[in-house]
Amino acid sequence: MNAVTFLSPVQEEIKLVEERMRSQADDSQADLRAALDHLLAAGGKRVRPNLSLLVGNMLNAPIEKLITFGAAVELLHTATLVHDDLIDGSLLRRGMATLNARWSPPATVLTGDFLFARAAILAAETDHLPLMKLFSETLATIVNGELTQMFASRGVIHRDNYYKRIYAKTASLFELTTRGAAMLSPVNETVIEAMRDFGYQIGMAFQIVDDILDFNGEQAAVGKPLGSDLHNGLVTLPAIYYAESNPDDPDIQSLPNGGWTHTENMTRLVGNIRASDSSKKAMEEADQHIEQALANLATLPPCAERDALETLAKYIVDRKV
Ligand code: IPE
Ligand code: IPE
Ligand code: MG
Ligand code: MG
Repeated sequence: MNAVTFLSPVQEEIKLVEERMRSQADDSQADLRAALDHLLAAGGKRVRPNLSLLVGNMLNAPIEKLITFGAAVELLHTATLVHDDLIDGSLLRRGMATLNARWSPPATVLTGDFLFARAAILAAETDHLPLMKLFSETLATIVNGELTQMFASRGVIHRDNYYKRIYAKTASLFELTTRGAAMLSPVNETVIEAMRDFGYQIGMAFQIVDDILDFNGEQAAVGKPLGSDLHNGLVTLPAIYYAESNPDDPDIQSLPNGGWTHTENMTRLVGNIRASDSSKKAMEEADQHIEQALANLATLPPCAERDALETLAKYIVDRKV
């Protein structure tokens, strides 16, 4: 299945979200404008605004607010990627050069800061105070998660640590996306909670699949170098399953002691993990999250948007990108 299948029901609205994002640099310095154009031209799957638009349309939220909120969330996502690629030293994203590949670290940091600021302005333009608060809390969760990862968890093989990490860096934003769209809608707390959990579950699945693709994806499709998580000391679910089945593997044993800094050993370990059934086991976990997500959806009356959300949830585990 390709991305277009889930894009179709809100394709026109997505264009408006993109316009709204692009206009955020209108009155700014020329290089900032160029940077934002470059970032937007590189595309991206736009999964998050698709989610907010579908959930909001399903629940009868005002379309103007949904577009504003979708742009706020996607801009926040873009800003985290700008900083993440600088931190990780990643030169390729969405098949294109990252900002840090072309610009100095100071210019990249400042561009990210600008995008965070504009995302916050957009969030404020929803005129919904609890939503703005949640927006800022989510950004704090993401940053706190990234710092925890940086200081404490390189090379550490621990499930609880992994789940906390992927909640912070990815599922929290998905949760905000679907919960926020429900908050903008004329619905009760039960529906908001169902949509929050829907976002949480697909967010967890989304990051597990991202981590699987880091091992088993096709480099050309994924658009970023494979095996990079382990080389960066990030032990993700496929590696955790592999470690559980192969506790005596010397490369696994070396990880908590900085073994991940040895490029050749890690290349060997990546190959061994690719050849094992660890990614299949990780995928079963992602599937379980999607089942939970679908159970939340099933509590709502059937409609075209609900069908599209179901397709999107399934796409998350089928995707190659
Ligand atoms: C990448 O997110 C970062 C993760 C949370 C895994 P996406 O895979 O949604 O990135 P784009 O926006 O489609 O490039
Ligand atoms: C994305 O996480 C970073 C944030 C969501 C802040 P990853 O580091 O796993 O994403 P990729 O693999 O670079 O896309
Ligand atoms: Mg990264
Ligand atoms: Mg990753």
